[in-house]
Amino acid sequence: MAEPFLIGEAMTGGYGGADILHGCTIAVEPGEIAVIVGPNGAGKSTAMKAVFGMLSLRAGAVRLKGEDITALTPQARVAKGMAFVPQTSNIFTTMTVEENLEMGAFLRRDDIRGTMDQVYTLFPILKEKRNQAAGELSGGQRQQVAVGRALMTQPSVLMLDEPTAGVSPIVMDELFDRIIEVARSGISILMVEQNARQALEIADKGYVLVQGGNRFTGTGQALLADPDVRKSFLGG
Ligand SMILES: Nc1ncnc2c1ncn2[C@@H]1O[C@H](COP(=O)(O)OP(=O)(O)OP(=O)(O)O)[C@@H](O)[C@H]1O
Ligand SMILES: [Mg+2]
Repeated sequence: MAEPFLIGEAMTGGYGGADILHGCTIAVEPGEIAVIVGPNGAGKSTAMKAVFGMLSLRAGAVRLKGEDITALTPQARVAKGMAFVPQTSNIFTTMTVEENLEMGAFLRRDDIRGTMDQVYTLFPILKEKRNQAAGELSGGQRQQVAVGRALMTQPSVLMLDEPTAGVSPIVMDELFDRIIEVARSGISILMVEQNARQALEIADKGYVLVQGGNRFTGTGQALLADPDVRKSFLGG
C-alpha cells in the first residue's frame, strides 16, 4: 500500500505514567476528512496530541509525506504544514478576532492579508466582528475563530479536536459545511468528534478508538452501516 500523506502509526505512549495509546494508527490523505470517534477517555485527544508532537511516543512513528517527524516539536510540525486546534483554550479570549488571526500567523514572514481575506470569506461573521474581543462571541463563532487562526499558517493538514463541542445542531451543520469546503481546497482534515453519526456522514475515513487502540476502521459510510459500530457507538 502507498504511504499515506500523514500517518501516526502504531502509536504507543502516554503522559509519563501508564500508556494511554496502545498501537494506535491514524492516517489521512490530502483533501480527505478523517474522523476519530469513541467513548470519553478512549484516548482520542491523546492520539491527536501524539500526531502533533505534544507527547513523546514509546513506540510507533509519525510520518508526513514519508518523512519521519516523530522527534519534531509541535512548532517544527507547524513549519512543516500541520495546524492543530485543541479541544479547550483554543482562542485568546481577551484579544480581538483579528488579533487572534494575526497570532495564528506568527511564524510567517510574508504578507498575511490574502490568507486573512480567505478566512473572512469562509467565515463572514468573523469579518463583521473582527474588532470584537473573541471571548464575547458565541460558542460557534469562537470555534470559527479557532479554525480561522489555524488556517492562518496555510497548513496542508488541519487537526481539529471536537470543533463542534457545545454548539447547536444547526451551528454544527454549518461548521461541518465549512470544514468540507476546507477539505475540498486540498487540505487534509483530521478531527475528533463526539457527534459521531453526523461526523461519520462527512468522513472519507473513520476511526473508532477504544482504550487507546483501533476498534473499527473504515470509510464513514461503512462504519455507519456496521451493526456493531451502530449498536455500541452510535446509539443503535
Ligand atoms: N495531561 C494528562 N496527563 C495524564 N493523563 C491524561 C492527560 N490527559 C488525558 N489523560 C488520560 O488519558 C486518557 C485518555 O484521555 P483523552 O483526553 O485522550 O480521551 P478522549 O478520548 O479525548 O476523551 P473525551 O471524549 O473526554 O475528550 C484518560 O484516562 C485521561 O485521564
Ligand atoms: Mg478529548
